[in-house]
Amino acid sequence: MYNFEFKNPVKIIFGKGQISKLSKAIPSDRKIMLTYGGGSIFKNGVYDQVKKATEGLNIVEFGGIEPNPHYETLMKAVEIIKAEKIDYLLSVGGGSVLDGTKFIAAAVLYEGDDPWDILAKSGKVFVKKALPIGAVLTLPATGSEMNGNSVITRAETQEKLAFGSPAVMPNFSVLDPEVIFSLPDRQLANGIVDAFVHVMEQYLTYPVNSPIQDRFAEGILHTLIEEGPKVLADRTDYDAAANFMWSATMALNGLIGMGVPQDWATHMIGHELTAYHGIDHAQTLAIVLPGMMHVRRKEKQDKILQYGERIWGIKEGSVDERIDQTIQSTIKFFESVGIKTKLPDYSVSEETIGKITKRFETRGSRLGEKQDIGPDLVKEILEDRL
Ligand code: NZQ
Ligand code: ZN
Repeated sequence: MYNFEFKNPVKIIFGKGQISKLSKAIPSDRKIMLTYGGGSIFKNGVYDQVKKATEGLNIVEFGGIEPNPHYETLMKAVEIIKAEKIDYLLSVGGGSVLDGTKFIAAAVLYEGDDPWDILAKSGKVFVKKALPIGAVLTLPATGSEMNGNSVITRAETQEKLAFGSPAVMPNFSVLDPEVIFSLPDRQLANGIVDAFVHVMEQYLTYPVNSPIQDRFAEGILHTLIEEGPKVLADRTDYDAAANFMWSATMALNGLIGMGVPQDWATHMIGHELTAYHGIDHAQTLAIVLPGMMHVRRKEKQDKILQYGERIWGIKEGSVDERIDQTIQSTIKFFESVGIKTKLPDYSVSEETIGKITKRFETRGSRLGEKQDIGPDLVKEILEDRL
């Protein structure tokens, strides 16, 4: 196992009816901006619960944060916050609203010339301060509720970029599994697959003798495989909803990635598919991951075999046969929850592969746990999914 430091200060307020605790979690002397998305919170009762729980607090509302939140929209919130001297952000929505809120929190206090640099120069520009954030999560998927990551899209240039900083980790996140009751199948399936692939990015690399991280990761995968379909079949199965929601948080709150190599190439390639075609984040992962496993079968061999045996019970056959079966089992699972896994399923052609490859070439990016995936391999991975 590698050396590591781990700190996760996010307070989780988990369970049925917990939105009512909001007023205790938010300092009463703050001027608050409540951020939300396209309006689902008005239909499913979450907004009413939040309003009731925050009665008496000084709140300005900012809605319209779109899925794959747009930089252009978020900068409007930044202006309002500066003009109205707002000093606390309350995100009420899914990963997009929360990621957008994290960017707003950082951009308001950013001292450089152009806040876009937070994303474009991520890795060189570090976010050291941000407005405090509280969150009410309405969609289990991203893990954003318990991490310091944010992914933002610039519509104008069709770019989708990420940044990360401990400064944007929420002070608290309320996780009430009942929010799942109103989720459409598509978003629920997205949540299952996104959380699944978050685990894979931190697990399917190479062995470093880290049995506890491996077992935690496998535990989350098993739980997603068991509980995800239960929630899909019956949205009001509270226990299944609670188990699924906590799995998604645990998949990306840092714990399982400590002391082990991490990949994230599937995400980086997937972001480009969203940037060019607007394909849902999780759908892009379901497309790319099987290609990644196929093309990187040698480099990832030990972990693919372990995953195949422990998750799918695959023990028979040659190494290549077992790897093929493992890839097929993964594809079957994604398709069983309703997510297609091939590029043509989303009307994406070879032309896009060329554009994505070119982009990685221009950026000079090297991806993967060994930073050895260049544009040629990106092309091979995507061509495998035609
Ligand atoms: O906008 P509203 O009207 O709220 O509707 C949303 C949206 O249309 C709807 N929705 C959310 N909660 C609902 C609901 N509908 C009914 N009932 C509810 N309870 O669902 C739609 C999708 O919402 P969105 O927030 O976009 O989904 P998700 O949570 O999957 O977030 C995806 C974004 O997170 C980023 C992705 O790239 C993408 O931009 N990610 C963030 C990560 C992080 N911060 O760590 C990691 C992930 O890998 C991911 O990249
Ligand atoms: Zn993801």
